[in-house]
Formats: sequence, structure tokens, C-alpha cells
Amino acid sequence: MVSDELIEEIRAQADIVQIVGEQVQLRRSGRTYRGPCPLHGGEGPNFSVDPERGIFKCFVCGEGGDVFSFPMKLLGLDFIEAVRFVAERCGIQVPERVETREEDDPFRDLRAAAAFAADWFQRQLWEEKHGEGARRYLLSQRGLSEDTVRRFGFGYTPDSWRGLREAAAVHEIPDEVLIRAGLVKESERAKEPYDVFRGRLMIPIHDLRGRPIGFGGRLLEDVPDAPKYINSPDTPIFHKGKIVYGLNWSRHAIRRAELVLVVEGFMDLVALMAAGIENVIAPLGTALTESQAQLLSRYAKKALLLYDSDKAGLVATFKAADELLRAGVHPSVATLPPGEDPDSIVRRGGPEALATYTDAAVDVLDRKIQILQKRGYLDTIEGKRRAVDGLLLTARAAADEALRDIYLDRVAAVTGVRRSTLERELRRPLSGARGRKRQPAAEPRESEAAVPRLGAERKLLLLLLRDRSLIKRVAEQLGPADFPTPEYREIYRALLHSLNSQGHDAGDDMAWVDELATPLYERVQELAADPEELTNPEAVLSDAIARLRARALEAKLADLMTEVLVADTAAAVELASRIKKVRQELAALGARMPGRGFFRGG
Ligand code: UTP
Ligand code: MN
Repeated sequence: MVSDELIEEIRAQADIVQIVGEQVQLRRSGRTYRGPCPLHGGEGPNFSVDPERGIFKCFVCGEGGDVFSFPMKLLGLDFIEAVRFVAERCGIQVPERVETREEDDPFRDLRAAAAFAADWFQRQLWEEKHGEGARRYLLSQRGLSEDTVRRFGFGYTPDSWRGLREAAAVHEIPDEVLIRAGLVKESERAKEPYDVFRGRLMIPIHDLRGRPIGFGGRLLEDVPDAPKYINSPDTPIFHKGKIVYGLNWSRHAIRRAELVLVVEGFMDLVALMAAGIENVIAPLGTALTESQAQLLSRYAKKALLLYDSDKAGLVATFKAADELLRAGVHPSVATLPPGEDPDSIVRRGGPEALATYTDAAVDVLDRKIQILQKRGYLDTIEGKRRAVDGLLLTARAAADEALRDIYLDRVAAVTGVRRSTLERELRRPLSGARGRKRQPAAEPRESEAAVPRLGAERKLLLLLLRDRSLIKRVAEQLGPADFPTPEYREIYRALLHSLNSQGHDAGDDMAWVDELATPLYERVQELAADPEELTNPEAVLSDAIARLRARALEAKLADLMTEVLVADTAAAVELASRIKKVRQELAALGARMPGRGFFRGG
């Protein structure tokens, strides 16, 4: 985006004393300049700027860096933003990214529909009589200020079938666009398309540029059998598994704090931000995904999970933590009192009340150990065996080798299992299968998890694009969810869909490709043009299927092994038998796969 030459030119032109001097009172002291450190808020002249070398350093807090890292650290900018910040101050033009040009946006109509809806929902809340109940709910029951409600763009949609659709029609927004934007839906029973959200408090979800792209809708009071929250479906501009709620407001604060707080719900995030705790995000109603974890890893390498402390919350905590570890983020866990969430704690006791719990947060592995100890796992042989499995799950997830090393020591210490044994265990596939001939134990490498599975997904799609008659056979063994990479998953889903809508053999018909969103369309074109020769396609096909099945089974196994740790006795028995079955399936698959066939770490 910004060339290296330009960056170096900006660096050469920039006057670090001037740039730092805008924020701090500096005085010359020999070759360098000194002042109070703005990063830790010190008062003495311990912060030094060296104009010759173009660097700064604080002798108290130890922070230091160059002219770009200064605004990154002080203002929480990302690198490109920092480059622009500095460029502006030395009169250098940095070209805008091409893709920011509105007229090139293929989803302008969807964005416009989402913006219209966000605005309409807000007007229903503030300006209409039917918004009164929702206003009272937000301001009185939930104790939010009007400023906060407006800041987060909350709205309301009345309990009628076509309020939004009719308002949109006046502005000539066609049904077709509203449907693709996930705001209106069709059904066989209804004569006319109708609103997806009815009688709900509306929470807009924004992209990083602050544009609304989807919504969460909450009922104002409990209705039996109706979900409390619903979210917009995935659309070309709204991918729930890839974005998190609130990052558009919190990303700078997350960088600054070098820590991201992860809460479960929209309202938790809003309550925290309203209380001045800004470095927070919420995943969108589902378990934290791999893409979401990777997204967060770009902003901070430490996370603090603030989930419910009930069983479901603990399981969600451990799964999210493993996902974060795989993305290279180190998670710790706060334990909230039963029945409380961050929103209720802050509402009652303010930010100080929450601080009691965040201050007492512990590393995720330690939290697992606490739970296992409390539940008596470490008192029996059988329990210890299971504890080792559960703890290694977390050690295995850690992409950071040093952290994994520390974890192994910890597991050895609490279980009494020798470290060398644990290391061997870690290198075995999760299924526990020993495999006939293991390679001499190589250290598992960070990137190993991602590479083979990408190969398998790509090869499989290459084959399917070349010979559509294979789809049926693959469909019997793999669902879209078994494709871990989101874009490959969508391409596979579209392929299956084309098969369903066109009967059996669709031959060379590529019409389905035209219906794909631009980035996917381009991806398919690339795949279709890929000249890679696959000798022995039969073997490639079954190997790819086996790898993806194994990967999906491993993910399931990891989930079950996490669930069993917090389950009560009856549920644990049932889970144990499911674990056994998945292990057998995996072992059977492993036997069919040449070489190493397993993906999750080692
Ligand atoms: P919770 O049920 O814990 O609710 O859902 P909450 O955040 O405390 O919400 P309030 O305080 O009652 O308003 C946590 C998150 O799970 C998702 C939503 O994203 C919610 O914010 N969720 C919950 C759903 O997607 N559907 C539901 O029916 C319930
Ligand atoms: Mn709540």
C-alpha cells in the first residue's frame, strides 16, 4: 500500500523532536532532548529523544522506538496510520488506497441499505411514539445515558411485519437489495417479503470504518420460545465469523493497552465503554472463531476473557482461549461471581468493581488447573489421565513456543507426569493413535497447522472445478463446515448449491460462478486457471477428503475434551463415549493417510 521507499523518505524527512515535541515539553540536553515520558505519564525528565539516530527512549518505563512507533504507542495508531501521521507533519503526500474509492465498491447498494436501516431504526427509537418502550428500557432499566445510546447508534424496530420494507420502498430501495442485505426475507407462506427484525431493540454492527453492515436485535422482554437476540444473517458485507463487535471503537485503545478484553455480549461491551473501559470487543453470539482470533492478534498479543462463570461460560472460555493461543495471543481469564456479567458488575459498582475481578485474572492454563483441582480430577488416576488430556489441549494450542514450554512445565508439576512423557504425548495426534511408524520426533512447528490443510482444500476444489461429477461423492463425506478457510468454505457451499439447484450432473455450466461476490469470484477464476497438474487425481481426492475429515474430527474432539472437563458425572460418561468414538474414527482415517495426517499442532 505504501512503498518502502516512501516510508524511508518520510523517515528521513521527519523531525522526531518536532513530532514528539507536539506532545511533550522537551529541553535540549547535550546531543539529545529530555522531557517527561508521555507513555507512562512520568514527571521527571526521563524521556529522551535522539534526533541524530531518530529514536526515543524512556529510562523509567523502558519504552522506546522510532518516529513511527511514537504515535503508534502514544495514540494507538497502526503502522500505516502512523506513517500517514508523520507524513502529514513533513508535508509528504501518501496516496489513498485505491479500494477506498466509493464508486468501485461492488456492495455500495448493500451498504446504503444498511445505513438507511440504521438511520430508520434510530428514528423509530427517538422520534416515534412506538419507540417509547425501548427508550424507557435503555435509559431506565439498563441505566444507559442518552449519549451512550446515541454513541452506539441503538435503534428500535416496531412489532410490525413490514415497517422497514415500506420505509425503504419510499426511498426506492428494492426488495432484492434488502434481502441480500439480510434485512428482509421471503417465505413460501408470506405473499410479500417481510422484515427480519420486528419489535426489537436494534444494535448496529459496524466495520472498521464505522459503517453499519449488520445488526443485532434484542427483545425488550422475555418471550417464551423466542430467542432473546437475533443477528443479521451473513451477507456479502457482513461475515459474522470474521468480525467482532466494537473493534471500530476500541482498536486504538486495544493497541495502547496492549490488551484486549473479550466479553460475551453487546451490552457488556457498551456498559464497559460507557464506564471508560475502552479496550474491549465481543464476538458475535457464537464461539470465537479462528478468523476472529487472528483479527485480534493484529491489535494485541494479550487477551482477558470475561465470560460467565457457569459451565457453558467456562467451556466457551476454554475454547476461545485455545483459539487465541493458536493465533499467538496469550489469554487470561477473570472469574466473575455466579449470575453476573461485566455489564451487571459495572452497572452496580462502576469500573472499580470490575477491576477487582480483572486484577485477579489468571492465565488460562492456571484457570483450567484450578477447575480440575476443584473438581477432584487430580485426586484419582483416571481423573489425572483426563486432566493431562485437557491441559495438553491448551499447551498444544499455544503457537508461541516459549509459552508452550512454560505450559509443559506447569502440566508436569501439577500432574506429576514426567515432562519428557508430556512432550511425546504432545507430538502424538490428538486421537491418541500411535501410528505405525512415527517420524523421529521433530519439534512441532508453528505454521504446520495451517499449511497442509490449505493444500487439501485447494486441491480438492481444483479437482471439483475440473470434474464436476466428483461433487456428489465429496458431498457425501464433507459439509461446508469441514472447510476451515472461510473463502474455500464459501466456494464449496456455492458448488454444492449449484448441484442442488441444477439436478445431478451440471456439466460445464459455470453460471453459479457469476453469482459469487467479487472476491470469491476472483478466487474461483484463479483456481480454474491454475495449471497445477495433479497426477493420480483419485489418490489426491481421497487424501484431501481424509485430511479435511480428520481436521474436522480433531476440532470436534478438542471441543468434547474441553466439555468433559466441566461436565457433571452423568454428562461426563456420555461425553467420554463420544470421545472414544471420534478417536476411533480418527484412528481409522489416520491409518488410511500416508505420512502425518493430523493438523492441530504437533
Ligand atoms: P446473554 O444471554 O449472556 O445475554 O448473551 P447478555 O449479553 O447478558 O444480554 P442482556 O444483558 O440480557 O441484554 C450473550 C450474547 O450471546 C448472543 C448475543 O450476541 C448476546 O450479546 N445471543 C444470546 C444470541 O445470539 N442469541 C440469544 O438468544 C442469546
Ligand atoms: Mn447481560
